[in-house]
Amino acid sequence: MAKLKKAFFCQNCGHQASKWLGQCPSCKEWNTFVEEIIQKASDTSTPSRPSSKRAEKAIPIVDIEGQKEVRYQCPDKELNRVLGGGLVPGSLVLFGGEPGIGKSTLLLQMALQWTGIKVLYISGEESKHQIKMRAERIGIDNDQSLLLSETSMQNVMQQLPEINPDIVVIDSIQTMHSSLIESSAGSISQIRECAAEFMRFAKETNTPVFLIGHINKEGSIAGPKVLEHMVDVVLQFEGDRNYMYRILRSSKNRFGATNEIGIYEMQGKGLVQVENPSEILISDREEQLSGSCVAATLEGMRPMLIEVQALVSSAAYGTPQRSATGFDLRRLNMLLAVLEKRSGFRLAAKDVFLNIAGGIKVEDPAIDLAVIAAVLSSNEDVPLKPKYCFAAEVGLSGEIRAVQKIDQRIQEAEKLGFEKIFISKYNLKGLSSDHKRIELVPVGKIEEVYAHLFG
Ligand code: TYD
Ligand code: MG
Repeated sequence: MAKLKKAFFCQNCGHQASKWLGQCPSCKEWNTFVEEIIQKASDTSTPSRPSSKRAEKAIPIVDIEGQKEVRYQCPDKELNRVLGGGLVPGSLVLFGGEPGIGKSTLLLQMALQWTGIKVLYISGEESKHQIKMRAERIGIDNDQSLLLSETSMQNVMQQLPEINPDIVVIDSIQTMHSSLIESSAGSISQIRECAAEFMRFAKETNTPVFLIGHINKEGSIAGPKVLEHMVDVVLQFEGDRNYMYRILRSSKNRFGATNEIGIYEMQGKGLVQVENPSEILISDREEQLSGSCVAATLEGMRPMLIEVQALVSSAAYGTPQRSATGFDLRRLNMLLAVLEKRSGFRLAAKDVFLNIAGGIKVEDPAIDLAVIAAVLSSNEDVPLKPKYCFAAEVGLSGEIRAVQKIDQRIQEAEKLGFEKIFISKYNLKGLSSDHKRIELVPVGKIEEVYAHLFG
């Protein structure tokens, strides 16, 4: 038997070293090195692959003939949108997300919904019966969708030419195991080897392959960042498991932009596409309560109206509490400091709680003004008019700053029947269309907003 070759791998970024290291020289994480037994293909009886191509010559780019782009259109519109307009043949797509978020459901659903396309779903994670149960919940019959319950890379590769699928889904890459590598499934060297094998298959046969990958607690695809470099597209499925909304984003796309998102709702019959998220997210606002207001935000390229809720109460202890759900706590502290310093509102002795309704996380700075309005409304205990909406960033000196894509935000508010939208006065000159059905309230300072709302 060939001598076993060992190496140490950083479980965070996949860096390889010949000896154990306390700190990874690549990603600077501590205590992440684990010894794995690797056995290169060249050490075994399998001959190494000959290079299949002749040496290429350099040619001028203008002389290369352009190809007409062909893309598969998935039955799922949101998925097409996030992929940049469809699935490119031969692409390797990494589909990441926390356990239980709905990765298997989404891709199984895609397989079942796709008529006329042979999708092979390879599962190393669940038994045939478990998958059948899920398929029954989704409730679609499709005799073209095939299931293979297998974890051995070599067995999969042997079967693939025979099955000849149009699209392959691997659930998950962490359960695949290649016999060329000694270490256990899910280790860095296994993941890397198996992913490389699927990449070769995808490129040689021009078949798109989805690799499902689990995410570790830091939010990166468990273990290897190396995977993210290898694949063509990285999709992330995220959301709060206690809520039903799920957001699909792409963080890398060799065939399109990465700023599109897909929104789904987890229901009893699988994932349902949400075409008008704003309508759902602000639909429960019937009564006028203080501390709640609506912000016009952008998720990817899509304008979306969300509800911001604040609760300001007298601090029971010396140090006031600050808590934020779905919003950056540091940014909330910053906005409170701005309110305190620039506009003379005494919030230092108050507890402030902030919540974005629907379990959505927002990073868009354009919701600053809505946060300020919600805090002020709760502090004054005066409800805001339900048909008011906000879209502006707040700077350190209390100035209301312009935000990008203001036209789309205004249009969305207009579409949902809002009467007034508060924007930065600096956004006025950038407006490309006139908005007749909504009143624009241009503001420059927090004081002006205060005067307008409570004056
Ligand atoms: P799953 O696809 O197994 O997650 P992942 O593959 O990312 O680990 O999704 C599991 C969750 O989805 C589980 O908690 C049950 C829920 N679910 C529904 O609410 N409705 C459904 O129709 C299905 C199939 C699952
Ligand atoms: Mg799963």
